[in-house]
Amino acid sequence: MKGIVLAGGLGTRMFPLTKVTNKHLLPIYNKPMIYYPIRTLVNAGIDEILIVTGGNSAGDFLRLLGNGKEFGLKHLNYAYQEGEGGIAAALSLAEYFADQDKIVVVLGDNIIEKNIRTAVDSFRKQVEGAKILLKEVSDPQRFGVPAFEGDRIVRIDEKPSAPASNYAVIGIYMYDSKVFDFIRTLKPSERGELEITDVNNYYLRQEKLTWDVLEGWWTDAGTFDSLLNAGNMVRQTGANKRG
Ligand code: G1P
Repeated sequence: MKGIVLAGGLGTRMFPLTKVTNKHLLPIYNKPMIYYPIRTLVNAGIDEILIVTGGNSAGDFLRLLGNGKEFGLKHLNYAYQEGEGGIAAALSLAEYFADQDKIVVVLGDNIIEKNIRTAVDSFRKQVEGAKILLKEVSDPQRFGVPAFEGDRIVRIDEKPSAPASNYAVIGIYMYDSKVFDFIRTLKPSERGELEITDVNNYYLRQEKLTWDVLEGWWTDAGTFDSLLNAGNMVRQTGANKRG
């Protein structure tokens, strides 16, 4: 299984912090944001990792991360996204790297307290399809939100004004190699992006989407408030714990 960190985008929601750098290079307490999603993959036993980035600061990732020695890696792979286009568009750049293997995708601004090893191990055994992780939150309207019938997910809504549950679909996704064929059929959403929620709904319709609830805290860091919150959480309890 291979890992992909999506760290592109122009970060316009966080101007002026992102005027001269990439959002994923901003500090979360004592480390650059991108360190956390890489650690998430490494702690799950994934050592073949691709960083998808873009914008004017793309070269800074190479200077910061090099070959991944700090994470115990021998090598890191990089891809460059021109402009924006949404999470699914960024993911499509990973097709060559994935090379028919299953993948674990982590959004570069998603930080977790514990680890995803159990979910990744269970996806290794899943013959085909996709797996998502959910977390109960107080502000589901900011995220992809699952609608349940009993304990079955029937639909995922992207940033719904009236959320069907209190769960967020967090930015850690596992896919089989068919994901790239499906992304090619996607049309941009109202916000002009190829939505990862459309990808997840596709697997749901195929009845090939499994899900787990994440243990420990989770936060994104893509707004001023969540960036501050992420720093405080890391300072108070630490992130990416192995236990
Ligand atoms: C994205 C996804 C959303 C998901 C979130 C997790 O939102 O579109 O479904 O819940 O990441 O961080 P965005 O970062 O584009 O607001």
